[in-house]
Amino acid sequence: MRIRTLLELTRPSLTDAEARLRQAGYGVLSTAGNFSRVWDRPDADHVLKLFSTTDQGYWTFLRFCMTARSPYLPRLRGRPIQVNHHYSAVRLERLEPLDHLSWVVEPMQAVFHNPDVPADRRHAVIRLGATYPKLIDTIRVIKQVCLNDQHLHPDLFERNIMRRGDVPVIIDPISYSDAWGIKEIPPTPKRRTPPMGMSPELQDIANA
Ligand SMILES: Nc1ncnc2c1ncn2[C@@H]1O[C@H](COP(=O)(O)OP(=O)(O)O)[C@@H](O)[C@H]1O
Ligand SMILES: [Mg+2]
Repeated sequence: MRIRTLLELTRPSLTDAEARLRQAGYGVLSTAGNFSRVWDRPDADHVLKLFSTTDQGYWTFLRFCMTARSPYLPRLRGRPIQVNHHYSAVRLERLEPLDHLSWVVEPMQAVFHNPDVPADRRHAVIRLGATYPKLIDTIRVIKQVCLNDQHLHPDLFERNIMRRGDVPVIIDPISYSDAWGIKEIPPTPKRRTPPMGMSPELQDIANA
């Protein structure tokens, strides 16, 4: 409690922080999320994301980004910081909307949401793997991270994929139960799943 009080005295409240960002020339880029706000400045090559400190899904993802070294994950500028118990901040490279790369959404979702890729998506998944080596591996590892924790849920849809030039980048693929205000999660046995198997053609692509 003492530490919490001290932090609240020494760190700006979210309202103060946002006022300071505006003074420094930042504007809100996105208010879409309930638990985050992304800020940018026209002349900067980075954005600043303020997010709920309790959002363990996003913390898990940030830790993964810092260790995985995959081109399909956002590059962090510096380390994320927990400003106080209410909100945290991370500086990220500026990415762009998918635009001409929007074809990647369906095959990426097919890999992410299905253990086996449905027949009608297989062709697109093979194209995805051939165009972006190891992207399928990255998606599968994120899914595995979710399966290993009952509070984490895969959340990959169009708005959570952006691009760096011609490379798709997954920006926010894990949602967290408690972040949505669910305090008591019904007890469910912790899922222990073996690593997901890949069909032979995907294995070839992933190993390419
Ligand atoms: N690195 C980035 N560069 C540019 N825009 C971004 C970046 N990260 C997020 N955004 C913008 O902010 C929106 C929300 O970001 P996201 O990380 O999905 O947070 P949340 O879903 O929690 O609001 C994105 O859909 C995109 O418009
Ligand atoms: Mg999002």
